[in-house]
Amino acid sequence: MSELALLGGSPTRTEPYPEWPVWDQRDIDAVTEVVKSGRWGGYPFPGPKTELLAKKFSELQGGGYAVPMINGTVTMEVACRAAGIGWGDEVIVPAYTFQATAAAPMAAGAIPVIVDVDPLTYCLDPKAVEKALTPKTRAIIVVHLGHQMTDMDAILAIAEKHDLIVIEDCAHAHGAKWRGRGAGTMGHFGSFSLQSSKILTSGEGGILLCRTPELAAKAASIIDCGRPHALGGGPEDYSGEYLMGSNYRLSELQAALALVGIERFPAQAKMREEMAAYMDESLSEVPGVRVLKRDPRHTARSFYRYVFAIDPQQFGVEHDVLCAAMRAEGVDCWEGYEAMHHYTLFQPQKSRLAVPNAFPEYFQFDQMSLPAAERACQHEAVWLDEAIFRLGQKGVDDAVKAISKIQQNAKELAEAAKKFRENE
Ligand SMILES: Cc1ncc(COP(=O)(O)O)c(C=O)c1O
Repeated sequence: MSELALLGGSPTRTEPYPEWPVWDQRDIDAVTEVVKSGRWGGYPFPGPKTELLAKKFSELQGGGYAVPMINGTVTMEVACRAAGIGWGDEVIVPAYTFQATAAAPMAAGAIPVIVDVDPLTYCLDPKAVEKALTPKTRAIIVVHLGHQMTDMDAILAIAEKHDLIVIEDCAHAHGAKWRGRGAGTMGHFGSFSLQSSKILTSGEGGILLCRTPELAAKAASIIDCGRPHALGGGPEDYSGEYLMGSNYRLSELQAALALVGIERFPAQAKMREEMAAYMDESLSEVPGVRVLKRDPRHTARSFYRYVFAIDPQQFGVEHDVLCAAMRAEGVDCWEGYEAMHHYTLFQPQKSRLAVPNAFPEYFQFDQMSLPAAERACQHEAVWLDEAIFRLGQKGVDDAVKAISKIQQNAKELAEAAKKFRENE
């Protein structure tokens, strides 16, 4: 009988890890208050809860003019539009991210230029950014991926030198800090998702942090069907000029939930940091596991997921098989995103989207080679669920125990995977 649960052995854990999102009476009271008030929606923008959320969220991140909206994809489209980025402009995006990072500039008419990541951090590689610059480059979208942060010193220096807009995709980085500065407050824009898997959630939702009150006013107009808004994204300014906009307003019910989430956030962030340090230490003792580089300038880490790398040679299998084995052991685990230059839905003939069809030369994915992203996405990255940390040291110990067990039985797993593939 095999030791490995995937091959019929007993799993490391039989109890599930705790669920997300967490909630208590405060969430019920907050939603009930909004229901009873009759002010459910986002119009007129901003409603009282939305306005308070904007204030509390920029306090949490330590800066910026916050404009709440419906999700963390639209935030980046609105950022492009507020900065005047549109048809035919080039926007640099990392190859390792969720598709929204590349889809959002396309929704604004811009072309995503997919660039490689740093193999040690998995975030956008500043050297690759410099090589990708052209006279048409208007912006760089960085993604602070999983629990990592992009080298913001290098990116801001490139942006300043070439007069580029910087958008930080912080869908994974609520509470993170770079040299003491909050994620999303260093670029011109910081884009946050409040979608239900995110570590601060209102079910669905997003927040755009803007560097200036003028940019926030534009963002507020774009999400409020173009109605002019006061500086900083404040109330409607009836004397102002309309912009082209849509209805991307957050509802008051969602803002109320996000506000309760912000109350809980500091204690959760502290617990995650402590458990992640313990995870770094424990994982670094497992042969074939590489803990991702921690940059000393990354002064506060935030954990949407905990990401590490395996050496497929030492495990005898790629990360997808390892993750399947981990899940069988009762540990929530995922092999991460597909590389953006392998994302076939962006292909002109499949997407029928305006940008790929108008500029097909940017979407010749079979001719693109981005080795660091390919290695991470196809072979080595492993994403552990944040729920592991909410179970304290026991959660971490079980996850590490499962990985060690798989490592110790790697030969057997590799043989089984080979047989499986042969019979497919
Ligand atoms: C890196 C990244 N960017 C953007 C998004 C989009 O956020 P939303 O789902 O709120 O649109 C997500 C996740 O959903 C994400 O993981």
